[in-house]
Amino acid sequence: MSQSFKNFINGKWVESKSGQTFENRNPANWNELIGLFPKSSKEDVDDAVKAARKAFEKWRLVPAPARGDVMRKLGDLLVKRKEEIARAMTREMGKVLAETRGDVQEGIDTAYYAAGEGRRLFGKTVPSELPNKFAMAIRVPIGVAGIITPWNFPMAIPTWKMFPAILSGNTVIFKPAQDTPNTARMLVETMAESGLPDGVVNIVFGTGGEVGRAIVTHPDVDLISFTGSTLVGKQISKDASDTLKRVSLELGGKNAQIVMDDADLDLALEGVLWGAFGTTGQRCTATSRLILHDKVYDKFLSMLVDRTKKLRLGDGLLATTDVGPVVNEAQRKNVQQYVEIGKSEGATLVAGGNIVSANGTLGGWFHEPTIFADVTPEMRVAKEEIFGPVLSVLRATSLEDAVTKLNNTVYGLSSSVYTRDVNKAFEAIRDIQAGITYINAATIGAEAHLPFGGVKQTGNGHREGGWTVYDFFTEWKAVYVDYSGKLQRAQIDNY
Ligand code: UN1
Repeated sequence: MSQSFKNFINGKWVESKSGQTFENRNPANWNELIGLFPKSSKEDVDDAVKAARKAFEKWRLVPAPARGDVMRKLGDLLVKRKEEIARAMTREMGKVLAETRGDVQEGIDTAYYAAGEGRRLFGKTVPSELPNKFAMAIRVPIGVAGIITPWNFPMAIPTWKMFPAILSGNTVIFKPAQDTPNTARMLVETMAESGLPDGVVNIVFGTGGEVGRAIVTHPDVDLISFTGSTLVGKQISKDASDTLKRVSLELGGKNAQIVMDDADLDLALEGVLWGAFGTTGQRCTATSRLILHDKVYDKFLSMLVDRTKKLRLGDGLLATTDVGPVVNEAQRKNVQQYVEIGKSEGATLVAGGNIVSANGTLGGWFHEPTIFADVTPEMRVAKEEIFGPVLSVLRATSLEDAVTKLNNTVYGLSSSVYTRDVNKAFEAIRDIQAGITYINAATIGAEAHLPFGGVKQTGNGHREGGWTVYDFFTEWKAVYVDYSGKLQRAQIDNY
């Protein structure tokens, strides 16, 4: 009998009303069933929203430093469970252990940041234009937040959203991706253990179409924070507009690394291998394009192909594995389709391109790290997000040409430039259209305390991470205290 898991609503683990379930399997070994999770429905969402609404009325009144104390405890508990959660995460979504440990660490960093923010949550005081009148702006919590998250960072992304939301005094309904319910369950279990009152965090498992939509359209949910595909993000934006919810969208990317002719090529090589094939290319920050200066194109490409062919595919729990499987069959099919598209567009396949079963593991969703050379800007493999281990290599004749090529996409999340010329580096920082730019470092690896997000169709202008995410999860209230004892008319009595 496989283990069955439950939703967490109002401080209790409860069955879904439908009684239906979905399977959670190991992408490195599809025969391995991890457990059954509730395929919940709108009724379960209703229950969770009721609980969150009720909890909000008390939680909003808890002083922010006390909410911060809970976050500190939560950080401590996550430190204790780091290895256990990392292993469970590799087992359900495939990336290698070093990376799942990093993913949990990002959650820990976010918890401790939130703990500190409990004693900051700065407002502003400004002078009033009238005498004996005090003016200030304070941050207030908003209400119930719907949190809808992807499978590629099953800890980092939910914690980026939920911890600031809760620290700010909101309560949450969390709907994790169907590929990673177990990590989400462990996270919520730890949150409950940290001393959050019943109803402050609720998790409802299920599909986007049913559970996700019920959250997004619910009249009593005040804000939505979503990370996932651009297609779904656009739909959420439309669905949420009827109730005029505040919506934060973190969507696709087509990130590029530029390597100039003056770059340290060995360093740039490590960067692109990490950026393109870390997490099996399944990051929204993944390096999906490599733009090489003409003068180093041939040399760098041959160094890259050589190293790429040596990457070892396998189960992410094994120390011998460099690259894990892709997350599921649909995702691997999508990768395979892009390989066909690249070939038919005339790009040159120089590494990989095939589906494989690694280390004798049958039934895992493995795909070789793949490189297309001679890619030109109008090709689909140069423009569309693939979300897998596929890298498209383009050629540039100057920094200006490289940046123009880098900007030639509807997305704008991460970017990277390898150069030893400080002037070129700053020109690139000025001209690249992206929310994140790295100099002499890969496109992946954003830190929890800096703004995270992108321009153009990568999002809708909000930022997660650091201090900036608190702008999303709080509302500004302007407060005037008139201690003059008489009616004072702004704009009139003083002019
Ligand atoms: C994502 O790919 O959705 O910057 C998030 C990084 C990680 C977060 C990635 N810290 O690559």
